[in-house]
Amino acid sequence: MTVRIGVIGTGAIGSDHARRINQVLAGGKVVALSDVKSASAEAVRAGVAPDAKLYATGEQLIAADDVDAVLVASWGATHEPYVLAAIAAGKPCFCEKPLATTAEGAKRIVDAETARGRRLVQVGFMRRYDAGYVELKEAVRSRTGAPIMVHAAHRNPTVPEAYVTAMAIHDTLIHEIDVLRWLLDDDYVSARVFFPRQAARANAKLRDPQVVVLETKKGVLIDVEIFVNCHYGYDIQCEVVGEDGTARLPEPMAVQLRLGAKLQNDILTDWKDRFVSAYDVELQDFLKAAARGTAAGPSSWDGYVAAITSDACVKAQEAQGVAVPIEMVRKPALYD
Ligand SMILES: NC(=O)c1ccc[n+]([C@@H]2O[C@H](COP(=O)([O-])OP(=O)(O)OC[C@H]3O[C@@H](n4cnc5c(N)ncnc54)[C@H](O)[C@@H]3O)[C@@H](O)[C@H]2O)c1
Repeated sequence: MTVRIGVIGTGAIGSDHARRINQVLAGGKVVALSDVKSASAEAVRAGVAPDAKLYATGEQLIAADDVDAVLVASWGATHEPYVLAAIAAGKPCFCEKPLATTAEGAKRIVDAETARGRRLVQVGFMRRYDAGYVELKEAVRSRTGAPIMVHAAHRNPTVPEAYVTAMAIHDTLIHEIDVLRWLLDDDYVSARVFFPRQAARANAKLRDPQVVVLETKKGVLIDVEIFVNCHYGYDIQCEVVGEDGTARLPEPMAVQLRLGAKLQNDILTDWKDRFVSAYDVELQDFLKAAARGTAAGPSSWDGYVAAITSDACVKAQEAQGVAVPIEMVRKPALYD
């Protein structure tokens, strides 16, 4: 079966997902496009989806009879109403992160999906599909013994001028928030944030770098360094320390050079290159589940937990090293 997909939001990632569905993956076809900037949707149609129909609004696209499933890749603040409309229409929906910009909004989606009694939403937490993280999770399950600590880092060479301190949580740490609780099969209970001295390249509206310390239900302590003006590259690090040994996220594949009296490996500089294969795998998983009228992978519940945890981390940024509790409602059985 070919799942007929409607894409809402055809900017950087929406257009790339449309390309992926039509040119790389099996089992899906982009039949509808919508963007508040109609020229953007037209460009995607011209480039990768010649048979797609353009819709003036996302709501019209969701309601279209020939759209089986919806992909939401518009700006974060617009995700919630589109996801709710897709659930109301009973259509599987892939939503880029964030699921919603508030924990209340994410909870409304969890409630709507739970009321329908069927998984319909996959959130775009693609790191769970990265081969390195998948191997790391297996090593933690079968080799290292029970985890005790995690040391992680999320470094960007630079960020736009408009990037402010809270965005280090909502836009950057959000991926660690999701992937680390998946990796450990655990949940968070508190967050603390510490700031070393300001990096010279950081703008005045941004405290950079920062260290977020998350404590889990099983007592694992996680430290994540977020350094978005590190200058040297886009670098994602993760090491799990267990009872019997440690396991480290593999480095991305890079040719080793012996050059100029140095042994060298290039480091990536663009985040788009780091998880490029994971995007393919996550969307293939979506198409597979959507063909059965459902969704798999990171759920609305995971989107809700990420939102609650992000809010606590932002509060912790203000709390000067004091622990902020992370409390959530009971997990509905749909997500077990
Ligand atoms: N998973 C990831 O690693 C990852 C990577 C990049 C972006 N994202 C997420 O994807 C989303 C889009 O990011 P982007 O980088 O592609 O941004 P972008 O600005 O390049 O594209 C967003 C597009 O959505 C359109 N749009 C905005 N509001 C709309 C609305 N109400 N209805 C229809 N279209 C609307 C804009 O005109 C724009 O073309 C964001 O939520 C972002 O956080 C996730």
